[in-house]
Amino acid sequence: MSNDIYGKYSAYLPQIMNHMAAEIRAYSEKEKARSGSMIYEHLLFRIKADQSMRSKCDKRNLPQTPRSALYDLHDAIGFRIVCRFIDDIYTNIEYIRKLPACRVVEEKDYVRHAKPNGYRSYHMILAVTVPYEDVLGQLPGTYFVEIQLRTLAMDSWASLEHEMKYKKNIKNPEMISRELKRCADELASCDLSMQTIRNLIKEEE
Ligand code: GTP
Ligand code: MG
Repeated sequence: MSNDIYGKYSAYLPQIMNHMAAEIRAYSEKEKARSGSMIYEHLLFRIKADQSMRSKCDKRNLPQTPRSALYDLHDAIGFRIVCRFIDDIYTNIEYIRKLPACRVVEEKDYVRHAKPNGYRSYHMILAVTVPYEDVLGQLPGTYFVEIQLRTLAMDSWASLEHEMKYKKNIKNPEMISRELKRCADELASCDLSMQTIRNLIKEEE
């Protein structure tokens, strides 16, 4: 696709993404050997589709150019790491901070500071140095990667809430939002209990 919004940089994106995925898998293997259990249940990643990147540019009043998609916006390459326990989120973050050629440029802790609607997740934006030219003409180039870290409970909540957001003609949106918020808080409380139980079991060992 030569006419997609990523232009000639399009070919580099899967390579950068796959390389990063391999590094994440490598540290998780290392951690599994150390602790005996996986630090995430699911590792998902994607390149933002041409059309949704174009819509995002429109929404932000940015021209539909490779520079908007790869320099002004930071989620062309996106990862989602879904964990069983809250502590695992922070263990992953420590490994991510140490990944070679990666610099953390933004972090949002919606785990400790939930959004008003109840959304919880930890977001990181990384600037990654790669052996490909970037939109500024630099070589080695810099590309951005967004990483979202969540528990399984936070993930199922976010997908339900996402479904609702894009549904038109919802009969009682206030009630739905209120129920979603209540559910998010109950799930958060369960996540804390699960973590506590796990810690207790560990102490027994
Ligand atoms: P965008 O939301 O990407 O335009 O940028 P932002 O600067 O607001 O970033 P933020 O870190 O708040 O959100 C980035 C991504 O996290 C979103 O694209 C969603 O995938 C996810 N996200 C953030 N808030 C919510 C939310 O309230 N509900 C759901 N389901 N997902 C959310
Ligand atoms: Mg947002």
